[in-house]
Amino acid sequence: MSIMFSQELPIYAALVLLVLPLYYLYSKASCRSKNTAVLPTNWPILHMFPSFVANLHKMNDYFTLVLARSGHNFRAHGPPGTGMRFFVTCDPANIRHIFTTNYTNFPKGVEFAAIFDIMSGGIFTIDGEPARRQRTKIKSVLSSPCLVARIEAWSRDKVENNLLLFFTHMASTSTSFNMQELMSRLMFDLAAMPLFGVDPGLLSLDMPPMEAAVAMDTVMEVAYFRVVVPASCWKLMRRLNIGPERKLKAAHKVLCGFVMEMMERRKINPSSVGNGKQHEGVDIMSSFLDDPYYT
Ligand SMILES: *[C@@H]1O[C@H](CO)[C@@H](O)[C@H](O)[C@H]1NC(C)=O
Repeated sequence: MSIMFSQELPIYAALVLLVLPLYYLYSKASCRSKNTAVLPTNWPILHMFPSFVANLHKMNDYFTLVLARSGHNFRAHGPPGTGMRFFVTCDPANIRHIFTTNYTNFPKGVEFAAIFDIMSGGIFTIDGEPARRQRTKIKSVLSSPCLVARIEAWSRDKVENNLLLFFTHMASTSTSFNMQELMSRLMFDLAAMPLFGVDPGLLSLDMPPMEAAVAMDTVMEVAYFRVVVPASCWKLMRRLNIGPERKLKAAHKVLCGFVMEMMERRKINPSSVGNGKQHEGVDIMSSFLDDPYYT
């Protein structure tokens, strides 16, 4: 089990890497501008914690608003008693500095790794030499001309043969549909195809169940929750298997099942996507599995 698990880790990390933008788009799509909140009040001792808790259910909207009013950066204190400090930014120059040019100045640390334990071993939670190594690996995989060409072909194929077909069908039968759900399905398929080399097929006329996409959203929600509550609180909930921690556990199971299913399908039919030409090993999962360092 432990060997199998360690093989899955980079795949997990890559899955998360690709699905994060999906989650971001999804969350942005649900933004509503009826918000009248002001900048968080900085109380003594409790700092901004009460405002964060009050806005937990619409964290993206709330942070967007605060960032817009604070010149794209603000500092915040973590939950009372934890001594945690946050620097929240949406300034591209800062983001580039933190994630790319000077990322070594910003080690993630053990607390962060604990919060994102579902991605343990992946680029989001590791530091030092392993992080440098995995960055180099991911960069080289994602910039491979072969993969880029394939992503282009997949994307065109998806839009032509699924999205347009879907729109045509809905228009000809005058059926209404949920655009946000449709986009989630499209983004999920588009993210999973380069990752596994097979099409999960969430975007199709029969609208199959989308547990894996929902589980991905749950993972992100619970991560937010863990960031804003004291560590002792979510760790206790995890031990008791209640609330968000229970949801996370279920989501983890769904995602493991999904990854396994994709791997099985990839093994059975290595060229199940595309125009029938064989592209052995041109997907992110294969490039990790073929690398002795990760297996
Ligand atoms: C950021 O990195 C560059 C080189 O990558 C270096 O020249 C610069 O001094 C670094 N800045 C800080 C604040 O560490």
